[in-house]
Amino acid sequence: MTSRFENVKNIFIDSVERNNYVELESAQHNYKLLEKSLDKPLKMILLFGKPGTGKSMLLNKLYHNLKESREIHYFDAPILSEKEFLRRVYEAITDKAVPNELRVNFDGLLRFCQKLKGEREIVFLLDECQLYSEALMEKIRLLSDTRVIKFVITLHKTENEDIIAKQHFKTRIWEVIELSNASEDDLYIYIQKKLIQKGFVEISNMIKKKHIRFIYTYTYGNFRESNKFLYTLFDIYEYFDENRPHKVSTEKLSKKFLEMTALKLGYIDG
Ligand SMILES: Nc1ncnc2c1ncn2[C@@H]1O[C@H](COP(=O)(O)OP(=O)(O)OP(=O)(O)O)[C@@H](O)[C@H]1O
Ligand SMILES: [Mg+2]
Repeated sequence: MTSRFENVKNIFIDSVERNNYVELESAQHNYKLLEKSLDKPLKMILLFGKPGTGKSMLLNKLYHNLKESREIHYFDAPILSEKEFLRRVYEAITDKAVPNELRVNFDGLLRFCQKLKGEREIVFLLDECQLYSEALMEKIRLLSDTRVIKFVITLHKTENEDIIAKQHFKTRIWEVIELSNASEDDLYIYIQKKLIQKGFVEISNMIKKKHIRFIYTYTYGNFRESNKFLYTLFDIYEYFDENRPHKVSTEKLSKKFLEMTALKLGYIDG
């Protein structure tokens, strides 16, 4: 017999599926900023934040919410070849496939966009832009200068490189929305909602504020780190449920299992 904890742990596998989106005040706030920015003229919008702070999640939600009401295209994975990128942009705008032997010329694309001025406003959502080359980023900027294409791009912040300090992003065309880790309160709501959304009310009742405090000490409210923590925790529950069921209580979360999780993830030494 499989343990019910197997299904619980699987909730915490990283995924940007919009069905898994959890409404949090901070996410809601950033979403509204994003929507507002889209209505302003002349902007490139930068979604910025450390890995695992929910940038892809937000971009994905924006796409699905707006795709019926405006012209919007979503590149969820970076397109590293410039040739391929220009092709994909052109194909998205014209809704026609470009024959393989042909190549989309950048100046041509730029002129094509300039002609659409005043007629169309097309939004492109580009995830993982830290992987695009400087040269391609410059082309993206030039395309946005036509005021026909508007780009929302996400970039992740690394420990040793302050991308935002680059000259590139200091120009006025950028609107920056910075995402950060969840607060302890938000982490509580996040975990509760995730469990309840999937029908695990009993499990959600096991988790108290003090347990969240414990988890927060190690994950600092980073969504990806917290997912990993909960996945590992319920993996341990699953193991005990299958092998030593007398050690498993669903009254409240086990302090011992929490500590085993921190140990397993290398947050503490044994
Ligand atoms: N509002 C949210 N609702 C539900 N899950 C979320 C939310 N925000 C983040 N997550 C979870 O956290 C994980 C990490 O989020 P996401 O992939 O969006 O981070 P990111 O900022 O794009 O990271 P990276 O810079 O590494 O690309 C997601 O897989 C998702 O499970
Ligand atoms: Mg991402």
